[in-house]
Amino acid sequence: STLKIAVIPGDGIGTEVMPYGVRCLEAAAKVFGISLSFQTLDFASCDFYKKHGDMLPPDWKETLSGFDAIYFGAVGMPDLVPDEVSLWGSLLKFRREFDQYINLRPCRLLAGVDCPLAGRKPGDIDFWIVRENTEGEYSSIGGKIFEGTDRETVIQETVMTRTGIDRVLRYAFDLAQSRPRKRLTSATKSNGISITMPYWDSRVREMASRYPEVNVDKYHIDILTAHFVQRPQIFDVVVGSNLFGDILSDLGPACTGTIGIAPSANINPDRKFPSLFEPVHGSAPDIAGKGIANPVGMIWAGQMLLQHFGYHDAAAAILQAIETVLAQRDQGIITADMGGKGTTKSLGEAIETAILTA
Ligand code: NAI
Ligand code: MG
Repeated sequence: STLKIAVIPGDGIGTEVMPYGVRCLEAAAKVFGISLSFQTLDFASCDFYKKHGDMLPPDWKETLSGFDAIYFGAVGMPDLVPDEVSLWGSLLKFRREFDQYINLRPCRLLAGVDCPLAGRKPGDIDFWIVRENTEGEYSSIGGKIFEGTDRETVIQETVMTRTGIDRVLRYAFDLAQSRPRKRLTSATKSNGISITMPYWDSRVREMASRYPEVNVDKYHIDILTAHFVQRPQIFDVVVGSNLFGDILSDLGPACTGTIGIAPSANINPDRKFPSLFEPVHGSAPDIAGKGIANPVGMIWAGQMLLQHFGYHDAAAAILQAIETVLAQRDQGIITADMGGKGTTKSLGEAIETAILTA
């Protein structure tokens, strides 16, 4: 059956890297005999906002529900539309309305990428971060009292539900179970946050009892960030609440190179709604329109899309193509953020060719 993909390029470099993401997916589909269909949509962009006064059309949810997956570039043109309007009016709506409760990011040091951590080789860093994406610290429950006085007080509640914790843990344990090292690390802070985090820990213990093959450990978030930098080789799957996962999922990819190569998936594992695959980076207004954006994050996000739908060979081929091209360090091909003189086109086409000729 055909996998239906909604293509939303968005703004800025999103529109520049997207064509190469689609071309690499098409290349892998051709080599591995996968049937993909693409439909490009113009909403969730600031251009759409300028024309219609809103980031999305009223029927966006019905439209996108007809797809298996959303392949998303980047949104945001801060000079035209305030970021909270563009981001809350599009991407964050997708995550919540489509119950994409898993945010998944690989932390993998690729050959040919300069590692900001001294002395690390490819293979030393290879783990996944699983972030809870719908509840936790990012609730809208709270308020402000005694405003404008010395007693001014603000409160914001953390909301953790058994269902919400268990479903992200189940996903993370399944992932750990599927990997050779079968190791799971939980981010906590139960020494300081005395109600929600001990509860999180207790759910981890409960889930661990159902996965006897998985080795489980936990670290407080403060020391865990230090370990990311000093001992990244110990990690295999790291799971965290919305806030802790947010912090770790920026730190992890930053430890493995430029922001231009990192991908991210927002997943609704129940497949009731489409999942969304995107590069970690934003619309990069500072380099938009120059044709020099690194397309690897976008292409790697497409790789995660194929992986999510079980096309493991095709996914492996895309990752291999990325690694092969980057490892050659051809200055005329790789982009400026990786120290080269190449363009989105030169790097994107080199990876496409590598997929086709693998
Ligand atoms: P950004 O990720 O767009 O850019 C940060 C820096 O990294 C810039 O110097 C940029 O040139 C560079 N960079 C980013 N991607 C690159 C690539 N592929 N190749 C080479 N260099 C790259 O983050 P920033 O500047 O904080 O935000 C710009 C806009 O993007 C804002 O409107 C923001 O709200 C939006 N944004 C959207 C996201 C999304 O759609 N998921 C995520 C992050 C930011
Ligand atoms: Mg973040």
